[in-house]
Amino acid sequence: MAIGQSKTLLLFGATGDLAKRMLLPSLYALHADQLIAPDLRIVGTARSHHDDAAFRAMAGEALAKFLPDGRKDDAAIAAFLQRLSYQPLDASQLDGFAALAEKLGDVSGGMSIFLSTAPTLFEQTIAGLQSAGLTGNSVRIGLEKPLGHDLASSCAINDAVARAFPEERTFRIDHYLGKETVQNLLALRFANMMFEPLWNAQGIDNIQITVSETVGLEGRHGFYDDTGALRDMLQNHMLQLLALTAMEPPAELDARSIRDEKLKVLRSLRPVAPNESVRGQYGPGAVGGVAVGSYADDLGKPSDTETYVAIKAHVDNWRWRGVPFYLRTGKRLAERRSEIVVQFKAVPHNIFAPRGGTLAANRLVIRLQPAEYVRLLVMAKEPGLDRGGMVLREVPLDLSLTDAFAKTQRRIAYERLLLDLVDGDPTLFVRRDEVEAQWRWVDAVRAGWADGKVAPRPYGSGSWGPNAAIALAERDGVSWHD
Ligand code: BG6
Repeated sequence: MAIGQSKTLLLFGATGDLAKRMLLPSLYALHADQLIAPDLRIVGTARSHHDDAAFRAMAGEALAKFLPDGRKDDAAIAAFLQRLSYQPLDASQLDGFAALAEKLGDVSGGMSIFLSTAPTLFEQTIAGLQSAGLTGNSVRIGLEKPLGHDLASSCAINDAVARAFPEERTFRIDHYLGKETVQNLLALRFANMMFEPLWNAQGIDNIQITVSETVGLEGRHGFYDDTGALRDMLQNHMLQLLALTAMEPPAELDARSIRDEKLKVLRSLRPVAPNESVRGQYGPGAVGGVAVGSYADDLGKPSDTETYVAIKAHVDNWRWRGVPFYLRTGKRLAERRSEIVVQFKAVPHNIFAPRGGTLAANRLVIRLQPAEYVRLLVMAKEPGLDRGGMVLREVPLDLSLTDAFAKTQRRIAYERLLLDLVDGDPTLFVRRDEVEAQWRWVDAVRAGWADGKVAPRPYGSGSWGPNAAIALAERDGVSWHD
């Protein structure tokens, strides 16, 4: 196992969108806050022909564009750019890897690789790294999605990686795990006494997980149209959120204990019944007051790909017997929002009813973005003399993480994950057995769609999705938390 901090970080796809928007700004932030070692070298590689100077210039432009203004410091940026160097590589050609190895020089002090590449180049890249001696004990690899498009292709990629890197040196990225509020879910559940006794079928009626986006296709034509919402968002990010919400308390806060518990949940997911999923595809409409076209307009042709999916999931174990987990995600929806809503059961007997008091059952809202907060909705009495009966109202008990920790620097997910990769902490990375359990469940959903010839239902851009998704919850007497 590669022990300790890496001395070199090798970034594949270093001229791509992810690198410009997320990786380089995140690495800069870690550099500026002295969280990475002064001697950590960052070597970029991609197909384009750049030398070190041109790559630094490109990185400088990316930082100018994507760093928030408050984070820009000319001297720090100049020093950061000096860490960077670049080696062009056509990963489909084995012979280019020798030059990469030469550029990297001695990596016995530890190297972390960040690999985000087209799925078709995966196996060749791993073989290239191996042929050039870049997979030794001191090297670990971080893998960015998409890691396959179904269980079989995911296994093929995992097998190819495993030929060169043992599981403990393989760090599969799900950037949702790098989000602060996602980790805060562990603190909320396991650092407080008050939730856990109720966190089960006796106390909870249902759980909703929403990841809604306002953006559309965003120019990712080929990739998105081959993928769809189920595989792009639900297979990974949303199932990880579900697993963290539903898992048993791990014995320790270490990678193995947490991942073991998540895995048990993923393996307990019941196959989805035909009437428990809804596919949708956005039509024309308006988002944030701006008129937008349909998915087919954005794509330039009609398509059968879903841009929205809602699923009623069940975790078949003692704790969650009879508690549905409603999951939904989609593009071009009314609002950008990621949240987990825990709907508690109603009190067993309403003593306020004879005097007109109606009660709403408690709800816990864990908002991941855009704002970060935890809000517990509780019933309170409206002040007054109650001549006409006691008036009760739902009021929020609010914990705004943004306010409570106003002085603490907020970190984006990739800062956390890149630092953990370089430091060698696998806790927030996804283990192979988890990914495979996720695919197994999702493949069965897709097989159901194929058997039933389930076409996506249209929904207006700017809405909350197709009517059928509203019906999916409402027929159980549940409303989505919009
Ligand atoms: C990515 C998906 O994994 O997550 C994108 O491929 C999606 O389609 C993105 O837009 C959403 O991430 P976030 O962090 O903005 O919620």
